[in-house]
Amino acid sequence: MSITVFGGEKGGTGKTTLATNIASMLAMEGKDVLLLDTDRQGTASFWATVREEDEVEPRVSCVQKFGKGLAAQVQDLAERYDEIIIDAGGRDSLELRYALGVADQVYIPVQPFQFDIWTIRQMDTLVEMAKTFNEALVANIVLNRVSTNPVVREDRDTREFILQENFENLGLTNSMVYDRIAFRKAARDGISVMEYRRDKKAINEMNGLYEEIYGD
Ligand SMILES: Nc1ncnc2c1ncn2[C@@H]1O[C@H](COP(=O)(O)OP(=O)(O)OP(=O)(O)O)[C@@H](O)[C@H]1O
Ligand SMILES: [Mg+2]
Repeated sequence: MSITVFGGEKGGTGKTTLATNIASMLAMEGKDVLLLDTDRQGTASFWATVREEDEVEPRVSCVQKFGKGLAAQVQDLAERYDEIIIDAGGRDSLELRYALGVADQVYIPVQPFQFDIWTIRQMDTLVEMAKTFNEALVANIVLNRVSTNPVVREDRDTREFILQENFENLGLTNSMVYDRIAFRKAARDGISVMEYRRDKKAINEMNGLYEEIYGD
């Protein structure tokens, strides 16, 4: 059992996209997974509603939770599910802070083209604070929406830059997720790129990330 957060203070980086894909992949592995939406925009919940209305199997349970009681609620829910995925979006970082307090791991999507060193430093600090009472917390940046154009070397440059920064509390996943229409199409239908099936590369990328998160 683990609690995994997709979070970060910057908007539109792919938190919901990665959280919903990973949740569906866990369900496909037969896990009883809970997708916890702590973002008032409710994008993950909307995805789950579409999924439910279309009667997509396997089912992915999804609930929305906000505010102060979050940490206690997550710990309570953790006893009833095999895996918990938290989409900690939103501009207000209150939910993100609570989530970091109870999570085993957090993945922070970063888009090379809207790379923002200030918010990454901010995350490094947030993780450091969380670690004072949640020592085992593991935090990793994952590059998302990387350009598929080989001429654009932003992924390499961004990786180099992040590694040079030597963040105290943030690692960088080996897997990267590229900018692929399949992610947008799948999201619309309440499914993952696995279930969408038409984009092998997107599938491979998500499998790589999944392995990094849950493999041993
Ligand atoms: N790898 C990808 N390839 C193509 N499109 C993507 C990819 N990842 C995310 N997107 C698209 O980018 C937009 C923002 O993604 P998403 O909603 O997952 O970000 P977010 O971090 O959850 O945003 P917010 O901060 O608003 O909650 C969406 O339209 C989504 O479909
Ligand atoms: Mg979101």
